[in-house]
Amino acid sequence: MDNNQKHLNHIDRVNLGSYYTPEIIVDLAYSILNKNISDIKNWTILDSSCGYGSFLAKKGVAKRLVGADIDKTAILEAQKKNKDITFICQNSLANVCRENLSIKTEEKLIAIGNPPYNDTTSIIRNSIKDVSVQNKIDSDIKTRDLGMSFLLSYNKLQADYVCVLHPLSYLIKKANFSLLSKFAKNYKLIDGIIISSHEFSDTSRGMAFPILIALYKEDSDGMTYDYIQKYQFKVKDDGSFCLRDFDTIANYVQKYPNKKYLNGNDKPVAKFWTLRDINALKRNRTFIDSDTYNTVYILMEKLPYYCYIDVFKQYADKMPYFIGNCDIIIDNKKFNDIKECFIAQSVHTNPILKNKFKFREIPNAKLKIDNYFKELLGNKLGEKYAKNFN
Ligand SMILES: C[S@@+](CC[C@H](N)C(=O)[O-])C[C@H]1O[C@@H](n2cnc3c(N)ncnc32)[C@H](O)[C@@H]1O
Repeated sequence: MDNNQKHLNHIDRVNLGSYYTPEIIVDLAYSILNKNISDIKNWTILDSSCGYGSFLAKKGVAKRLVGADIDKTAILEAQKKNKDITFICQNSLANVCRENLSIKTEEKLIAIGNPPYNDTTSIIRNSIKDVSVQNKIDSDIKTRDLGMSFLLSYNKLQADYVCVLHPLSYLIKKANFSLLSKFAKNYKLIDGIIISSHEFSDTSRGMAFPILIALYKEDSDGMTYDYIQKYQFKVKDDGSFCLRDFDTIANYVQKYPNKKYLNGNDKPVAKFWTLRDINALKRNRTFIDSDTYNTVYILMEKLPYYCYIDVFKQYADKMPYFIGNCDIIIDNKKFNDIKECFIAQSVHTNPILKNKFKFREIPNAKLKIDNYFKELLGNKLGEKYAKNFN
């Protein structure tokens, strides 16, 4: 982001999700568009969260360019830079219709951009979040995340194509995908490329997470969650991956608090923190001592899997960023072949388990685990990723 795009203080930037897009990413989005649409010169391109207009600074690219943003200063700046474009200062999630954007029903429309993606219920930043925008969002597109509401708004505008950046988690987490059902009913992901959140200098301090530059096409068949599971996602400067290629821990263990499902005969032998995705595992604890609203109670027969997760955490920093929002991956057969190595490693390194259990030393346990991860990543994602585990 260049310096003249820094007119907001930290609070406003968080409220509006104002992280501006580097030119190289804008160019990537246009290259995806051009690959899939032969005549974008005949289309109207709309960025309804345009900021300083990075996605609209491409002269002559389309028949008509329209920009809108809730931030008045950003709109004034965008207008200064691009005098021949229509810019509108508005809340693009309220009273959503083509008319308010001076776009006619018959215009062929591509929605483009990098809408804000701040989860409006997130605990960390709630204290500085402005609820007034949230309160004015049209009820039929209101979700817990501004970015998902933006996707739903493109559906309301009946855009023919939608080419926007959004967290990959919108598609790959089932709960998110369900929130997008009105969008998914009418649009299909036809192309896209995954980039790291660290491509944005302003967000590079936190843990990297995958962002998809997605191209959706209006399609009366829409897309199902199964379609996403089978989709081959391309990764910038890397290969590609498909969620279906991975087996995950969710198929073998309880991820969420399970107290109410235990019956009188169940005798939990250990406790675990709620499981989410790989990035959450990096931040969170694994085995715990306390009983909290986040506690998962572990029965003896499932203990090896939780040891696996505990050991996985030790290796998580070596996993590529683009699987950060996936469930913890596993090769169940190979894991079972060496499960004693995982139990030994976890019992001998985790202070909570060390106090609870005794387990014999397994010769070369660490080496076998290294090899396990080398194969897991190498086989599914390519040799490049296996090298991290040498
Ligand atoms: C991630 S920035 C992207 C800006 C620009 N598209 C770019 O890529 O450089 C998100 C933009 O969304 C705007 N925004 C946030 N909520 C909005 C809303 N409800 N209506 C319109 N714009 C909004 C912010 O002001 C900010 O400029």
